[in-house]
Amino acid sequence: MNNSLFTIADKLIKNHSLTPDEYEQLVSGYSKGLANYLSANAVKVRKNIYSNQVFIRGLIEISNICKNNCFYCGIRGGNHYCQRYRLTPKEIMQCCVEGYELGFRTFVLQGGEDGFYTDEMLCHLISNIKKVFPDCAVTLSLGERSKESYRKLFDAGADRYLLRHEAADKELYEKLHPTGMSFENRMNCLKNLKDIGFQTGCGFMVGAPYQTARHIAKDLKFIEEFKPDMCGIGPFIPHRDTIYAKENAGSADLTCYLLSIIRLIHPNILLPATTALGTVSDDGRERGILSGANVVMPNLSPESARKKYELYNNKLNTGVENAFHIAELKKRMENIGYEVVVARGDVARMRNAECGMKG
Ligand code: 5AD
Repeated sequence: MNNSLFTIADKLIKNHSLTPDEYEQLVSGYSKGLANYLSANAVKVRKNIYSNQVFIRGLIEISNICKNNCFYCGIRGGNHYCQRYRLTPKEIMQCCVEGYELGFRTFVLQGGEDGFYTDEMLCHLISNIKKVFPDCAVTLSLGERSKESYRKLFDAGADRYLLRHEAADKELYEKLHPTGMSFENRMNCLKNLKDIGFQTGCGFMVGAPYQTARHIAKDLKFIEEFKPDMCGIGPFIPHRDTIYAKENAGSADLTCYLLSIIRLIHPNILLPATTALGTVSDDGRERGILSGANVVMPNLSPESARKKYELYNNKLNTGVENAFHIAELKKRMENIGYEVVVARGDVARMRNAECGMKG
């Protein structure tokens, strides 16, 4: 047993903060024993705030048309093998109607950077969704837009915005993205979203090409300092039509370990057990929750769209990934002592210092 690593873990549990060097030591010093220690503590702080509740989000993949060409992504604009689609506002509304019936109270509109969806069109759609479902939250995940655009979407009623930062290290960011996409702009977008008042989510892929423990340490420090309300992390999984087709996928173990660390940094954060985690490991969803995650995002998109939104090889879209199989998801969560709830599931607003005082 490496005592100094447990000392670092204890410091994280107590202070919710570490130096980049300490994060790096934790990441590179991964062991089963340390992972168990961190996940037990992560689950404890999560339970104090969110009890045994798991929030669900209905994910609607509105378009796989994208002007960007992120090197790792299956729906990158330059992939001519990808069959493109986009849903109309009417089809998106229909997904919400079906989702509401199933018990979803958050709809996540996610898509590539598709110029078809103007501010005007999105604002109209968002205000419509909020009018028909006033008890629901609308989350957007539509990439980089101008601050004015973000503001309009917020004013139209959108509550949350997910924009993974992808890499907090500029050099790594630039290795994963073509020139024309800028690290500074990505960071600026995140700042704008937060300033406008969105519940804001960032995140990154675990095991991305060229990624080292030092890079992950930077991601963790960024997450600590940026204080996002949500954070999406999942293993990198290669896609056949990218330059990284032959790379190895990221590991479920390391992803779960990082979920625990992120939970300990920000006890109240909304943390999904992602589809990518479920794709690399059959019980990935369960393992994510047992490591400190508290959100799952099953897919509400129409059947015809699902296969086409292929970010990586073999992306799951059946079983518990399918919003229409919510009963199975409920059962699987019950089996590990958790309860899927019908609720908007907003971030618990409390200062970190107050967390862990209860119970
Ligand atoms: N493997 C895992 N995650 C991926 N994403 C894109 N491509 C992949 C991949 N090959 C993630 C990115 C992006 C989100 C929509 O999906 O982090 O932000």
